[in-house]
Amino acid sequence: MKPTIIFKKVFYKKLWNAINIAYYHSFNKEYVNAYPLYIFMDPGNVCNLKCPLCPTGQGDRGMKRGFLKYSLFKRVMGEIGDYSLFLFLYNWGEPFLNKDLFRFIKLSRKKLVIPITSSNLTTLDRNSCKQLVRSGLWYLIVSLDGLTQETYQKYRIGGDLNKVLKNVRLINYYKTRYGIKRPKIICQFIVNKYNEHEVDTIKKQYIRLGFDKLLLSRVRSDLGKGVFEDNTTKLKKYRDWFPSNKEYKLYLKNPKNCKYLNVSSAINFDGGVFPCCLIYGDNHTFGNISNQSFFSVWNGPNYLTARRMIFKRKDITSDLVCSNCLKNKTFEEFNGFHFFLNMILPNKIYDLIRKPF
Ligand SMILES: C[S@@+](CC[C@H](N)C(=O)[O-])C[C@H]1O[C@@H](n2cnc3c(N)ncnc32)[C@H](O)[C@@H]1O
Ligand code: SF4
Repeated sequence: MKPTIIFKKVFYKKLWNAINIAYYHSFNKEYVNAYPLYIFMDPGNVCNLKCPLCPTGQGDRGMKRGFLKYSLFKRVMGEIGDYSLFLFLYNWGEPFLNKDLFRFIKLSRKKLVIPITSSNLTTLDRNSCKQLVRSGLWYLIVSLDGLTQETYQKYRIGGDLNKVLKNVRLINYYKTRYGIKRPKIICQFIVNKYNEHEVDTIKKQYIRLGFDKLLLSRVRSDLGKGVFEDNTTKLKKYRDWFPSNKEYKLYLKNPKNCKYLNVSSAINFDGGVFPCCLIYGDNHTFGNISNQSFFSVWNGPNYLTARRMIFKRKDITSDLVCSNCLKNKTFEEFNGFHFFLNMILPNKIYDLIRKPF
């Protein structure tokens, strides 16, 4: 078949899938006869840094550790690749530690799924920067939370700011050398107590440092345990991290209910499926796709019960992790939709919709 015909076929499949998801989402349907619009697939939950609010950085043993295998990735792409739009290749570890990451990215592009990853960018060398540019990655989110080594390493313990900035320069060098416009490099600056005084400077300097876009984010509480704690507890327990400027603080407003359950999903390196990328711990899995299709978990008993609980307030069971989120209503504090819009739109346009700070 000609490439243009394949492209058209896949395009219509994706469009039809997106229309279906819009329908299931708008009417809060439990059974979803379509694939998620976007999916998180974790290349591995192993990391070289020790960020204090990240379960991986803490060495939390609530999850087995390992790397995603290419065979599993290929199978998942074979099932959902023609339908989904975006693939977030990160969750609980440093993605570039997986030697197959570039193969994942290439296959994702072949399937016309837009690949995005987030990295501390401290493990790359010249050669991997070159491979990265050639892989076809669409967005690279770089976690850079400080403009001096002192402020940066408060959170990114074990990280080297100069190495991060050197790798940004190398990626830009190879983009120019090969005439490739992607990946767009996004500077994700998570505002905490120790770097809040640098916000104005990063706003002025991110382009000079080699980034295409600045994504200012509010620091979340413990990424693993946080979803089970209410706002008052969080504000007290993690006060050492929250900035004093209220504008930069999360957990001050009452969040709304979760909207992720029929739009997206998160797959762990070992095939464990989670209702969203915020849930940490093998005991919370909704199923495993090592020996069954993704669709059978996506519309399996756990997903159906969770959707019923969240959307219809029925069959509330403490067996599922979502019931805790239902009680504490923590999900919307981290607004995935706005995170995404903020990432893809130019800063000036996003600021017209909702000024982050
Ligand atoms: C667990 S990390 C894994 C990816 C990669 N290792 C990294 O740090 O970019 C996933 C995302 O969470 C972000 N993150 C880490 N700690 C955070 C916190 N306390 N609040 C908000 N986002 C955080 C990271 O910057 C990254 O974008
Ligand atoms: S760099 Fe990312 S995965 Fe590693 S400890 Fe920090 S937040 Fe966690």
